[in-house]
Amino acid sequence: MCGIVGYLGNKNTKEILLDGLKELEYRGYDSAGIAVLQNNNFSNYKAVGKLINLEEKTKDFVTNSFAVGIGHTRWATHGKPTELNAHPHLGESSYVVHNGIIENYVSLKNELQSDGVKFLSQTDTEVIVHQFEKNLITAKDTFEAFSQTISQLQGAYAILLVTKGEDETIFFAKHGSPMLMGVNEENEKFFASSDTPLIGHAKEVNYFEDGDYGYVSKNEIIIYSKDKELQKPNFQTISTNRLSSQKNGYRFFMEKEIYEQSDVVSDTLMGRLGENEINFNEIDSTLFDDINEIKLCACGTSYHSALSASYMFERYAKIRCCVEIASEFRYRDPLMCKDTLFVVISQSGETADTLETLKMAKKEGLKTLVICNVDNSSMVRLADACILTRAGIEKGVASTKAFATQVSVFWMLSLYVAKLRDAMDANQLAKQIHLLREIPSSLKISDAIHEKIKRLSKRYLHGHGFFFIGRDIFFPLALEGALKLKEISYLHAEGYPSGEMKHGPIALADPELFTIALLPQHLLYEKSKSNVEELSARDSTICAISAIEFDKADDFIQINECQDYMLEFFEMMIVVQLLSLEISVRLGNDVDMPRNLAKSVTVE
Ligand code: F6R
Repeated sequence: MCGIVGYLGNKNTKEILLDGLKELEYRGYDSAGIAVLQNNNFSNYKAVGKLINLEEKTKDFVTNSFAVGIGHTRWATHGKPTELNAHPHLGESSYVVHNGIIENYVSLKNELQSDGVKFLSQTDTEVIVHQFEKNLITAKDTFEAFSQTISQLQGAYAILLVTKGEDETIFFAKHGSPMLMGVNEENEKFFASSDTPLIGHAKEVNYFEDGDYGYVSKNEIIIYSKDKELQKPNFQTISTNRLSSQKNGYRFFMEKEIYEQSDVVSDTLMGRLGENEINFNEIDSTLFDDINEIKLCACGTSYHSALSASYMFERYAKIRCCVEIASEFRYRDPLMCKDTLFVVISQSGETADTLETLKMAKKEGLKTLVICNVDNSSMVRLADACILTRAGIEKGVASTKAFATQVSVFWMLSLYVAKLRDAMDANQLAKQIHLLREIPSSLKISDAIHEKIKRLSKRYLHGHGFFFIGRDIFFPLALEGALKLKEISYLHAEGYPSGEMKHGPIALADPELFTIALLPQHLLYEKSKSNVEELSARDSTICAISAIEFDKADDFIQINECQDYMLEFFEMMIVVQLLSLEISVRLGNDVDMPRNLAKSVTVE
């Protein structure tokens, strides 16, 4: 999701910027760049691919006197990963770096172009620097031009800008994307998207609030709030431990990633939700021409999100949809028809079995699409079209935020296809888009629910197994809950459709069989409840998850009341993820690196 850094001081500016970018490389690594203003002269370097390429390009560049510098590592959203699209972006005499999406860039760009401004890149970011230079012509000073520019931007951003007229100043603004500033006794100033680049350099840091903007120079720190009130920086001491800092105070990466889901799904939705339509600028709607079926293929957690998608494609877009486990599909001589869109889903984009099925589909001449988290991965390079999930790097081996972002993409994609096929009227579509906007709130975690799950977890450390049960789209969620639990607790767990229990599995029911029951209020509640009652009658130990109190359960975890079952899906997803995490912690397991597993399965 891009990382930005900034530095003002006397030390080795190049090294400080590059070291900072190295810490942020996980946020995106399809290109990187720096711009340094020294003695009123700019030096600018950009390179495609990993940071090492930029290091190579800058090896003879020396910075040994006072300078201001900005840097960026990119995860492409607008425009391909090329050197021209890499940041910093140049105007006549200013450079800008940006993390986020400028939603109104097209209208700003059109106006600037009609004024004769020439654009070099395909990015949304470039409008910022040109708009700033346009404002500079009439503004009373540089800061006024910068403030005007910020007020003209819509969307999400963390921005750093440097300009020749002010060669001892860095201008900044933050809204919706992370950014902080650090200082030390030597009067150096540092900026970054997260605190790790500042560790070892800054003593104190100020985390900007949304709407903050201002500038720093050698002796000044000027911060205005969104209400244009001058603010004092709110300095806090920065951690000195890089590893724990990367975990932002959470015990495990998995826990951090569970908590991050609200923010990363906001990124997934960003720029894609219109008033009455879904926008996927990265795909061409002709991809769906002459398509009568969607085939989804994936492994593990990605397979579960594909299963969830099949419910949405059929229900919302009224298109036939089937789901395949990649390792099975490869070897079963499957029939592939040209009117099928072949979709692979993968967090890493490198999973060997899934990649192979993509090759098979391409060979048969099918149109292909990949839903992926890693740009430039093998699947992204191979497929005809790609939608990135924008979850940011996932470090915990047990996948969490990748799943949440995949399901969010599929929800949007099913509505996109629904519109193309006229399968949903405008009112229903607008209602669905309204619901999509609510996902980030449904993913917010209260202390109360986490505490409750932590306490409950001690009762689920033994027994002879777990059944996670749910109906409809809650069945894939049940499968995912069971997978999370087995991966990190090493306890036996299975996901089942609630209505299927009486066809065999219920024979296992006894007090040592734990049933985790997903009971959404807004989807087949009564039917699911009867299935749970059947288990309860056979003395199975029940932990029910629902917005509605359920007295037949031994344990009950209450989620918030939601407007729709899809929002209940995300609320319950958090509960099953946290339950697995807390059981694993109590069992003393390595949560982030469970035994026998690896993050990216590049062998079959
Ligand atoms: C489970 C998990 C795995 C992956 C699977 C596919 O927590 O992470 O089941 O989902 O190995 O990986 P990707 O999505 O990278 O293709």
